Amino acid sequence: MNSMNEGVGGTGAPPSGRPIVEIRGVTKRFGTGEPAVDAVDLEIPEGELFALLGPSGCGKTTLLRMLAGFETPTSGEIRIDGADVADVPPNRRPVNMVFQSYAVFPHMSVFDNVAYGLRVTGVPAAERRERVLEALGLVRLDGLETRKPDQLSGGQRQRVALARALVKRPRVLLLDEPLSALDAKLREAMRLELVNLRIAVGITFVFVTHDQDEALSMADRIAVMEHGRVRQVADPATLYEHPGCRFVADFIGKVNLFEGTVRASGDGVAALDVEGLGALSVPHPGPVRGEVGVAVRPEKIRLSEARPADAGFSFEATVEDYAYYGSETHLFLVTAEGVRLSATVPNTDRGPVRAERGARRFVSWRPADTLVLTE
Ligand SMILES: Nc1ncnc2c1ncn2[C@@H]1O[C@H](COP(=O)(O)OP(=O)(O)OP(=O)(O)O)[C@@H](O)[C@H]1O
Ligand SMILES: [Mg+2]
Repeated sequence: MNSMNEGVGGTGAPPSGRPIVEIRGVTKRFGTGEPAVDAVDLEIPEGELFALLGPSGCGKTTLLRMLAGFETPTSGEIRIDGADVADVPPNRRPVNMVFQSYAVFPHMSVFDNVAYGLRVTGVPAAERRERVLEALGLVRLDGLETRKPDQLSGGQRQRVALARALVKRPRVLLLDEPLSALDAKLREAMRLELVNLRIAVGITFVFVTHDQDEALSMADRIAVMEHGRVRQVADPATLYEHPGCRFVADFIGKVNLFEGTVRASGDGVAALDVEGLGALSVPHPGPVRGEVGVAVRPEKIRLSEARPADAGFSFEATVEDYAYYGSETHLFLVTAEGVRLSATVPNTDRGPVRAERGARRFVSWRPADTLVLTE
């Protein structure tokens, strides 16, 4: 799926030069079944905050562990900073990993936890102290040096784990679900903190998550994985607004997905027949034919009581159900032919919720908001 690689879309990455991480045709098999990682090609430029996103079991941790050197690829090549790392043990690689269950030593103070990695490699005491204090400053734990882990909050413990990795001054920091152990509010605060930390230290972050909101809100670019394969690599807005396949469209955000047939295409337009909904012409670059997925995001849908005058494409549906989320309301509608779809309506004023079971509405969307999915 290299054709979908969108090039360097990251912010903060230097404009030229060799990527810091190069993954070429990497496959990892455990035993005889499906490979855990299957022919992955990725290039990560220096300074990028790069996310590996995908459902449980798709191979994210395995790929990260191969970068760290804890697993050996069955085939393929990994280069870090230009050098093939096949024969380089984990502790000699210019990377450091923060694990999903952030292991900190419970009996050691914050200072000693962070100093540990420098102590075992024989960094002299004075330099050690300077670097530990610098790392603790970066993660905003100044003043807590003498605390023990059980005297810290979950977020602070996670920052100790980060400081432990940063103090080694890796070129690439690998983070496996770094925020998954935190509660929802803290997780959101830590997202911003990690992004700011990445900017402050200027090193490359590769982080694994199965949380699409986390990936969308933090990453410069995201690789979406399924069954060991990379399905698409792009910046967050491109993934959301221009997914390359049904899987990515469905995995990133919510989507209404219909089946359709292309009746004609050319001159930047595709004429579609959407199952149960009728004819719809949409802008589409290049030729397309056969069966396609036709998708639209719930927030792109417009609902009106009268048939919209401007919309070339509209149909009637009945509100079956709705869910109120405070900032927005999700409406679930069904057409007379039994086609179901959902629409998200922002609650921009404090009036009563404008949703009523059984209400009939005209559904429309801008043709340009239609996603035509060939895979
Ligand atoms: N040491 C191992 N031995 C055998 N199979 C393994 C090993 N490690 C991982 N696997 C298998 O490889 C596949 C990918 O696992 P991996 O841990 O990389 O997934 P993941 O994307 O990180 O999932 P999660 O989101 O649940 O952490 C899974 O099917 C898993 O069972
Ligand atoms: Mg994992």
